[in-house]
Amino acid sequence: MESIYDCFKLNNDMKIPCVGFGTYKAAEGNNVEVLKTAIEAGYRYFDTASFYQTEDFLGQAIRESNLPREDFFLVSKMWKDEMGYQQTKDALEKSLKKLGTDYLDIYLIHWPRPSADCENWKELDLETWRAMEELQKEGKIRGLGLSNFLPHHIKNILENGTVKPVVNQLELHPGYMQQAAVQYCKEHGIQMQAWSPIGRRRILEDGLILELAGKYQVSPAQLCLRFLLQNDIIPLPKSSSMERMKQNMDLFHFEISEEDVSRLATMPQAGWSGEHPDPELAQKNVV
Ligand code: A2P
Repeated sequence: MESIYDCFKLNNDMKIPCVGFGTYKAAEGNNVEVLKTAIEAGYRYFDTASFYQTEDFLGQAIRESNLPREDFFLVSKMWKDEMGYQQTKDALEKSLKKLGTDYLDIYLIHWPRPSADCENWKELDLETWRAMEELQKEGKIRGLGLSNFLPHHIKNILENGTVKPVVNQLELHPGYMQQAAVQYCKEHGIQMQAWSPIGRRRILEDGLILELAGKYQVSPAQLCLRFLLQNDIIPLPKSSSMERMKQNMDLFHFEISEEDVSRLATMPQAGWSGEHPDPELAQKNVV
C-alpha cells in the first residue's frame, strides 16, 4: 500500500480503498465545510449513516466538488428503527436521496440488535438482509455489509442469507482490538473496518503509543492508524481540521516492526466507547 487510494479486495471482487473518512460527529455545527475540506484534503471514501445526519451534507459537498460520483466510495447504514424488510427499502431510498446518488458502494446494518428487549433480533437481521439482497440485485447497492456484528450475529447471516457480507465495521484501536471477532471475520473472508481508530483520543497519551510514535517520528494518531493497516484493517479516522485530515492520510512512509506490532496488539485494555452490540450486556455492566 502506498496511498489511501490503494485498495483491499472484497469477497465479491469489489475493490475498497484502504482508508476512509468517518463522518460521525466530525462535522458538528459546520457540516458541509468539514466535508468539503475532507474532499479537498483528498479523501474519496466516506463512511456515513442515517443516524449521523451527515448524509445530506455529504451529498452537498460531493455535488459542489464537481467531481464525478464514480470518484467516490460511499458507505451508509440504516439505523436500529429502520431495520426490517420494508423499512430497509425505505431507508435506503432516503439515504440515496440525501446523498444525491442512485447507488451506494456498500450498505451496512448499523447494529445487530436494536435493543436489549429485542428477542427476535435474528429474524429481524435476516429480514433486513433479505431486503438488502434484493436492493443489490436492483443495482442500488454494490456490496452488503455489517457493522458492530460479533461472531454469533455474523453466523446467523452466513448460515441463512444468500449473499455473504463483504465487510464488518467494529470499534477497533490499540488497547481494544476485539481479537475473537477480528479472527472470525478473517477466517470467513470478511474485511474488517475500524471505527474510532484512535479511541476518541483516549489512547493518544498512552505510554507505549507515545514511545513508539517517538521511535517512528510520527504522531500517536498516525501510529494507531498504521497499526490497523498493518493488521489488514481499514481505519476510518475523522477530524475537523485540514492539518489532521492530511496527517491521517500520511501513513505510508513508515512501517511498524513486527515486534512493535505485537506489543501494540497485546497492550492492556485502554478504554472503549461503552457501546456494546448486545445491549443487555452493557446495561448489566458485564462488559
Ligand atoms: P479533531 O476534529 O479536532 O481533529 P475517533 O475517530 O477515534 O473517534 O477520534 C476522533 C477524535 O480524534 C476527534 O475528536 C478528532 O478531533 C481527533 N483527531 C483526529 N485526528 C487526529 C490526529 N491526527 N491527532 C489528534 N487528534 C485527532
